Amino acid sequence: MRKILITGGAGFIGSNFAVYMRQAHPEDRLVVFDKLTYAGNLENLRSLEADANYRFIKGDITDFEHVTRVFKEEGIDTVVNFAAESHVDRSILGPKAFIETNVNGTFCLLEAARQAWTSGGNRFLHVSTDEVYGSLGETGSFTETTPYSPNSPYSASKAASDHLVRAYFHTYGLPVLTTNCSNNYGPFQFPEKLIPLMVINALNGKPLPVYGDGTNVRDWLHVSDHCAAIDTVLSRGRAGEVYNVGGRAERRNIDIVEGICAAVDARAGSDEAIARLYSFGGSRKKLITFVKDRPGHDKRYAIDCTKIEKELGWKPSVTFDHGIKSTVDWYVANRSWWERIVSGEYLRYYERQYKDRCDAAK
Ligand code: NAD
Ligand code: TYD
Repeated sequence: MRKILITGGAGFIGSNFAVYMRQAHPEDRLVVFDKLTYAGNLENLRSLEADANYRFIKGDITDFEHVTRVFKEEGIDTVVNFAAESHVDRSILGPKAFIETNVNGTFCLLEAARQAWTSGGNRFLHVSTDEVYGSLGETGSFTETTPYSPNSPYSASKAASDHLVRAYFHTYGLPVLTTNCSNNYGPFQFPEKLIPLMVINALNGKPLPVYGDGTNVRDWLHVSDHCAAIDTVLSRGRAGEVYNVGGRAERRNIDIVEGICAAVDARAGSDEAIARLYSFGGSRKKLITFVKDRPGHDKRYAIDCTKIEKELGWKPSVTFDHGIKSTVDWYVANRSWWERIVSGEYLRYYERQYKDRCDAAK
């Protein structure tokens, strides 16, 4: 039985992972440690609340004393570090929190693990992103040996944390693993990110703000496949190694948004009464609005995930076409989850982020 500390486990991927692990490994103790920033939401973990082998702790990974206490109290032998400030646009508006959590917080966790783990059998898995590798041209893909070239404060802070993780293996022999994954989507994703933002705006008949000309490309992976990849690396990955995780599903932003419009039209209706109500006439594609581009916007990401496929036998199982439809279904069925979010702090963020963009694009 492992005693797993899941930092950032109230966020999008962390909460999906906690629920996934409960089902995949009922014997493990799961301790979710999360600061509950704007992105953390205990509703995501409701299905675990009655489970005696699960505990939620509100805490900040930069608080070394608290983290150390939890390691001792719970006898933590495994860490999966999801805790992060995770949104590129917010890192452009205010980079400080990204350095604090992503760099200092990861350092605190590594140091707590180094001090607590005096015997073997431990694992520290750091969840990172493909964005550390920078931007690609028309061809090629990121491998585990692609040089780091981060372009946003977010990706720079994640790159710094990856380097610390690497250093703790080489210097102290801490049994670390790093995964660098492409863009995730699926249930419980906070609506500041492309896919949930577009689904929710489409459902609400609001403009769909596409940055620049919409030809930027991302590789997309359903969150359930990411959870399975992390579980696989945690069980069978070699300490000190890096594993790239991707969906082999490159898409242009504009194609994704058009696909979402079609999926929402199919589910929520595009008949005349609805069209008149929201004044988009016929299809939600008419809501697409090209707005001012993101500064330093990376053109293309693509992941070569041959290593994890060949070495550990993991591969993505959810096709993008199926995954996007089921994700639209989830947001249609879970209106109350996102309606509470979009009326709070998010609303102020949204007005600040998109007013300037839309004004500049006029
Ligand atoms: P998220 O923003 O939805 O969740 C982050 C969670 O971390 C929140 O619950 C938040 O409350 C918590 N948190 C923030 N600061 C904290 C602190 N100081 N102490 C404790 N908890 C804190 O992010 P996500 O999309 O679930 O991403 C999780 C991880 O996966 C991040 O490290 C991110 O870099 C990485 N990642 C994300 C993607 C993606 O597409 N979303 C892709 C690859 C990698
Ligand atoms: P995002 O979900 O923020 O992920 P990341 O920047 O980490 O890849 O954005 C995905 C892509 O969608 C990115 O190219 C920026 C673009 N985008 C828009 O065009 N409009 C939006 O409102 C948002 C949030 C993103």
